[in-house]
Amino acid sequence: MGACGLHRRIKWKVCKPHTTHLVCAQALDLSCQSPHHRTMAHQEKQSNISAAIHISIRNLHKSWGKNHVLRGIDLDLLKGKKNIIIGGSGAGKTVLMRQIVVLDRPDKGSIKIDGVEITTLSETKLAHIRAGFGMVFQLSALFDSMSVFDNVAFPLREQGDLSRKEIKERVMAKLEALNVADAADRFPGDLSGGMKKRVAVARALVREPKILIYDEPTAGLDPLGARNVDRLILEMDDVFDVTSIVITHDMATCIDVGDQVSMIHQGKIHVTCKPNELASSRDQVVRTFVEASGVKRDT
Ligand SMILES: Nc1ncnc2c1ncn2[C@@H]1O[C@H](COP(=O)(O)OP(=O)(O)O)[C@@H](O)[C@H]1O
Ligand SMILES: [Mg+2]
Repeated sequence: MGACGLHRRIKWKVCKPHTTHLVCAQALDLSCQSPHHRTMAHQEKQSNISAAIHISIRNLHKSWGKNHVLRGIDLDLLKGKKNIIIGGSGAGKTVLMRQIVVLDRPDKGSIKIDGVEITTLSETKLAHIRAGFGMVFQLSALFDSMSVFDNVAFPLREQGDLSRKEIKERVMAKLEALNVADAADRFPGDLSGGMKKRVAVARALVREPKILIYDEPTAGLDPLGARNVDRLILEMDDVFDVTSIVITHDMATCIDVGDQVSMIHQGKIHVTCKPNELASSRDQVVRTFVEASGVKRDT
């Protein structure tokens, strides 16, 4: 599939092979709102993308010493959709992700998953919440000394309540879904970057999470590898009924896979909109980011 084949639901295309990052806007109906316009327009735009809210974040703050990283994040992540969180390096994307999966606690603010406040839950109750997340890290983070099968079986074995037969069935089902069943007995060191990523996604999905989070899934990959990862994220959307959260600084990923994109800037969500609206925005902060990424509109 060429790069254009990825743009299934939004009217975008990558123009020519030698301008891989030059994106043509064909339907520039609305542009993103600046923060000054946000309150009402933001709500209107959210309702344009019709889906239930899965995770609702309000006034979230996190600091380390004088470094006030999250300064009042307000964000709704949509159920069953591919939610992109975009922003520059050091903007606080990973910090935000760690609050969502409760690896860290915020200083202030609220995170509700399906209406349940999670920031105040006890550690015991959080184990159940955390089991509802699957995570795919930047460098796949597979265990090199374990076979592909054992890597994917690892979260199920940790769970401790499944028979060997059940584990085998579940692991092989995920490896087949990800097209890497033939590699079950191989070790990560023998796999291509793309296959490793598929195994990492199989591992993230093996406990059938409701929410799948990718942190910088395309970082460190060449453009072809990066677009293959985009395709993988879209495949997961077709096969599994999950809410995806994709944390990235990659505008191409944002446009390729996103249903909704939220841009983090100076510790707040600067704007939430559809990916094509982001790329055509007249807001200066957004434009600076988009132009620096090499993605341009041609109208
Ligand atoms: N555990 C920590 N202790 C202190 N500072 C941290 C910690 N984690 C992240 N930070 C700081 O938070 C800021 C945002 O980091 P991060 O979320 O990793 O950025 P990115 O948007 O690139 O993912 C950085 O200034 C980083 O130094
Ligand atoms: Mg990060």
